Amino acid sequence: MKVSIIGTGYVGLVTGACFAHMGNIIICADVDEQKISTLNEGQIPIHEPGLQEIVLENASTGRLSFTTDIKAAVKASEFIFIAVGTPRDRDGSADLQQVLSVAKVIGQALDNNTRRIIITKSTVPVGTTKIVKETIAKVLATRGKKHPFEVVSNPEFLKEGKAVSDFLNPDRIVIGTDSTWAKERMQTLYDPFRRTDEMRIIFMDIPSAELTKYAANAMLATRISFMNELAAIAEATGADIDQVRVGIGSDNRIGRRFLFAGVGYGGSCFPKDIRALISTATEIGVQADILAAVDRVNQAQPLRLVKKIKDYYGPEGMVGKTIAVWGLAFKPETDDVRESPAAVIIKSLIKEGAQVRAFDPVAEHSFADMYKLPITYSREMYDCLAGADALVLITEWHQFRRPDFTRMRELLTNPLIFDGRNQYEPVYVKERGFTYISIGRETIKQAE
Ligand SMILES: NC(=O)c1ccc[n+]([C@@H]2O[C@H](COP(=O)([O-])OP(=O)(O)OC[C@H]3O[C@@H](n4cnc5c(N)ncnc54)[C@H](O)[C@@H]3O)[C@@H](O)[C@H]2O)c1
Repeated sequence: MKVSIIGTGYVGLVTGACFAHMGNIIICADVDEQKISTLNEGQIPIHEPGLQEIVLENASTGRLSFTTDIKAAVKASEFIFIAVGTPRDRDGSADLQQVLSVAKVIGQALDNNTRRIIITKSTVPVGTTKIVKETIAKVLATRGKKHPFEVVSNPEFLKEGKAVSDFLNPDRIVIGTDSTWAKERMQTLYDPFRRTDEMRIIFMDIPSAELTKYAANAMLATRISFMNELAAIAEATGADIDQVRVGIGSDNRIGRRFLFAGVGYGGSCFPKDIRALISTATEIGVQADILAAVDRVNQAQPLRLVKKIKDYYGPEGMVGKTIAVWGLAFKPETDDVRESPAAVIIKSLIKEGAQVRAFDPVAEHSFADMYKLPITYSREMYDCLAGADALVLITEWHQFRRPDFTRMRELLTNPLIFDGRNQYEPVYVKERGFTYISIGRETIKQAE
């Protein structure tokens, strides 16, 4: 099947590569010339496990190609996915400029009576797919054309860091359409991904599909903010949030996932999607109390870790202290640093007068490019600790889970860990001679 993906970012590139992997002919198009030439040179602009292999393999067979010629990509395809960004606008709503500009180009490019399917893969507010349809029809009308096309909403649920395996083995695929023909064609396109009976293609109407994406992210974000609020209660009452997590997670009505207290959620999706949903609710006169609280708790959460650091140093302050930071990406296995809690925490530490030295296995360059902060970067996790006054752990990369505590003690001038992700057992760390301050758990003072 011939498919074009307009927008070759985290979602577009993974979508294109995975459809090509199933034998389809895919054109990935983007306005970013640099990105396309990088891809055409066989380099992958993002860090995503398994992506490089699948892109190179499919590009070498000719099933996957890259172009800046969006009109040519549209003309050559039956399925046209819109996978461009929908960033947060100033008022919190989703900025649809990229989506609508692609819709206009599609309207200019459609060229014959082949029936096409235009699919909104980007996360878009309810009603956007209809606007995409109207926009394309309007451009066609100005050209005096009536080329046939259908619109479909097919939101994406992949997780960065596991994007390729999520796309190849999805829990479910949500497709919103009001066309029987488009439903059958989409089913045919996605059938190769249905390797088990449990994986379902869920068909629904277009507005419900659009809202399903926001609802899923809002539910997950709510669980995180809920646990972060409980962590504050646990700290103040002498309970341990990790024990509480295990206690509630074993109730199968609740489940174990997304119950980890920490420095809050970040990334390119949850923060913007929660605010966009609040904005939609406000527009239609619905008071989104829960969503507003989820967002508020999350904004405060990285600063709660900063407060613990400030409280530790007290009147002495942080001027002249060197703080080592482990982790810059918003979560492990990605180099995505958009809305990373690390940025909030590091900016605050700098404001307090600390020198910050940071290490991340893959996100150093993207973090340096996006935030341009006066910090130094280490190429290795232990180098980052040499002569530092404390370690602040922000992203739970696997390599930080079982570090060499003896070596850490030798390198740090003071054996002090602020753990924003509750990676270590407090007793274990205490036995190794550290002061250990984490989230929603007892503060462990270095043994005398
Ligand atoms: N990143 C994720 O984990 C994830 C998961 C699910 C859904 N989504 C949603 O998918 C969408 C894309 O997210 P992303 O993370 O891939 O974004 P991204 O910023 O990585 O990629 C967007 C791409 O679109 C390109 N682009 C912008 N305007 C264009 C235009 N007019 N024509 C062609 N290309 C254009 C950009 O150059 C960029 O390469 C967003 O709506 C996002 O909310 C993202």
